[in-house]
Amino acid sequence: MRLLVPGRSGLPALADLDDAALFRAYACAEERWVRSNMVTSLDGGATGPDGRSGSINNDADHVVFEVLRALSHVVVVGAGTVRAEGYPPLSVDDSLVALRRAAGLPDVLPLVAVSNRGTVPPTLSGCRDGRALLATTASAPGLEPARDDLGAANVLVCGDDEVDLHVLLDALHARGLDHVLTEGGPGLLGSFLAAGAIDELCYTVVPRVVGAGPPRTVGADGTPADLDLELLVEQDGTLMGRWFVRR
Ligand SMILES: NC(=O)c1ccc[n+]([C@@H]2O[C@H](COP(=O)([O-])OP(=O)(O)OC[C@H]3O[C@@H](n4cnc5c(N)ncnc54)[C@H](OP(=O)(O)O)[C@@H]3O)[C@@H](O)[C@H]2O)c1
Repeated sequence: MRLLVPGRSGLPALADLDDAALFRAYACAEERWVRSNMVTSLDGGATGPDGRSGSINNDADHVVFEVLRALSHVVVVGAGTVRAEGYPPLSVDDSLVALRRAAGLPDVLPLVAVSNRGTVPPTLSGCRDGRALLATTASAPGLEPARDDLGAANVLVCGDDEVDLHVLLDALHARGLDHVLTEGGPGLLGSFLAAGAIDELCYTVVPRVVGAGPPRTVGADGTPADLDLELLVEQDGTLMGRWFVRR
């Protein structure tokens, strides 16, 4: 993996990046930081024709995807994506556990599913050990069943009728979960952008065109934002970058 734009990483341009260098390249300097990681086809598609991002991502994307998880305190995902992609409770990739520990991060990587309806996605159902959290609202029809399913401590009530993402981020902060990674989907990323709650977008651009059918990577709520390129990495024609939201 070649470093095309080093940004503030302190690494030399065109360096070959191993996992340790990727940890350095993607590190967050701030105490509280929210970033999103998405993969897109060259023509802006969020999925392949099968409706899953797994059909457009590739080996290069997978490497950075795992590094971003390993650098995070918590992963926040829309319930639609948890259902579409079948997310189980997460664990850090074995090859990155030592780097994660050296960075002072705990072994556990909780996953938060965001759902206005309060529906626990089937793949998280019954997980009561704190690796699966649900963010929902006080009026959600699924609130009480979700508490029974995941345990009350693992259900975060973040608003009355709609999940307020700032309330969610404060609830995570109260648990010491300050480096937040959201992996979408487009609906949730649109809400994060609309709420002004995103610091950084990480995008993987795969050299592939999918046509007009698949959704774009930012959903209907997404508000325009200007970004500054911080870092750019390339492997086999796939580009992976960090863009900071301009304040
Ligand atoms: N290209 C990529 O990197 C990428 C990443 C992720 C997903 N995807 C793809 O995107 C598709 C899913 O898209 P999507 O837009 O439906 O995903 P999504 O945002 O994950 O899911 C939408 C659902 O999540 C909940 N939700 C989202 N935003 C919310 C908010 N602000 N407040 C409360 N609940 C919220 C709602 O769940 P309830 O209905 O339960 O209330 C909503 O119906 C899948 O095909 C997936 O494969 C692509």
